[in-house]
Amino acid sequence: MHFQLTEEHLMIQKAARDFAVNELLPGVIERDEQQKFPAEQIKKLGELGFLGMMVSPEYGGAGLDTVSYVLAMEEISKIDASASVVMSVNNSLVCWGLETFGSEEQKQKYLVPLAKGEIIGAFLLSEPEAGSDATSQRTLGEDKGDHYLVNGTKNWITNANSASVYLVMVQTHPDLGSKGINCLIIEKNTPGITLGAKENKLGIRGSDTHSVMFQDVKVPKENRIGEDGFGFKFAMKTLGGGRIGIASQALGIASGAFELALKYSKERKAFGKEISQHQAIQFKLADMATKIEAARLLCLRAAWEKDNHLDYTLSGSMAKVFASETAMWVATEAVQVHGGYGYVKEYHVERLMRDAKITQIYEGTSEVQRIVIGRTILG
Ligand code: CAA
Repeated sequence: MHFQLTEEHLMIQKAARDFAVNELLPGVIERDEQQKFPAEQIKKLGELGFLGMMVSPEYGGAGLDTVSYVLAMEEISKIDASASVVMSVNNSLVCWGLETFGSEEQKQKYLVPLAKGEIIGAFLLSEPEAGSDATSQRTLGEDKGDHYLVNGTKNWITNANSASVYLVMVQTHPDLGSKGINCLIIEKNTPGITLGAKENKLGIRGSDTHSVMFQDVKVPKENRIGEDGFGFKFAMKTLGGGRIGIASQALGIASGAFELALKYSKERKAFGKEISQHQAIQFKLADMATKIEAARLLCLRAAWEKDNHLDYTLSGSMAKVFASETAMWVATEAVQVHGGYGYVKEYHVERLMRDAKITQIYEGTSEVQRIVIGRTILG
């Protein structure tokens, strides 16, 4: 068993860290305040290969492993979780889904520009009445012979405005339940698609989240991914990898908050010495570091299993639930270590605390992860 990263892993980690510090840190507070999408930064991330990290070079990707992806997600998320969610959705939900299950034509047409970061994608599963209960899809795709006619509403869609390509789960055989669901590739500029207002969120405020409405949207049959009825399995398999991405995002938020708390504790003096010299603070730092390391090991284990073609459903859900709960706890403790300074924007930890919360909600709530873990261990 090797716990050491390779030279290549270390290089990718450093490249992501440099990018985060040089390109994402400037303006991160303002983008959060103004809910400004990091368009220029996402374009540069694409040029560096961070938006199609695991896609084969044959389809325009960087051809890296999932371990590299976890390392990069951690570094980017330490500084800007709004940018890292864009990166996560494009890499794990959109590119991975297309590369693994798409047809050759779909890959050439959509995956190549997505992997190169020339365009970005979105994954449309959630609906007003189908969040955790994802089989209850109400968006209908009526079979019209050579095309589907799509009607319905999707909710909480990350990248809804900035994406050019949507992977949309629709119910095409309502009598068949989860077996009647299909995933359709729908271009955002197709007539009949409208967006709701941008959501005014607690955290990850730089990312664009909207509801998306479909009214008589014509989608050619060749845009269906896989066999008829494959859509729910497609969504679940894709989300399995997505959960590793969000677990790594949570890990990054936690380690970013920890690094800030550690630095502050060595600078701030109280009762005649640096606060890091007080045991009350040392205990907090020790617990933060320990939980972060456990979360990192879970993320890397899930990534390693994925890279080695093992079943990573269990490890991915364990990583997601543990890392997201760690992120929330560590970020809250980091604010506490900063005292009053932690409560104001300049010190960054209040943003990390707000950003942490979503990692317990999207790509399957903590409760959903426990359902997946419980079912797996019960066989
Ligand atoms: N791989 C393959 N197939 C799977 C699967 C998996 N991981 N999980 C379930 N399935 C299959 C089941 O085998 C079953 O098929 P059969 O009928 O042939 O046996 C079918 O799918 C239905 O499965 P369940 O009966 O287990 O379904 P359920 O209703 O009990 O739900 C659930 C299971 C785990 C709760 C699921 O609904 C779920 O994951 N919900 C959460 C949805 C979610 O994560 N949403 C996130 C939205 S995307 C997002 O958040 C992106 C973003 O913004 C960043």
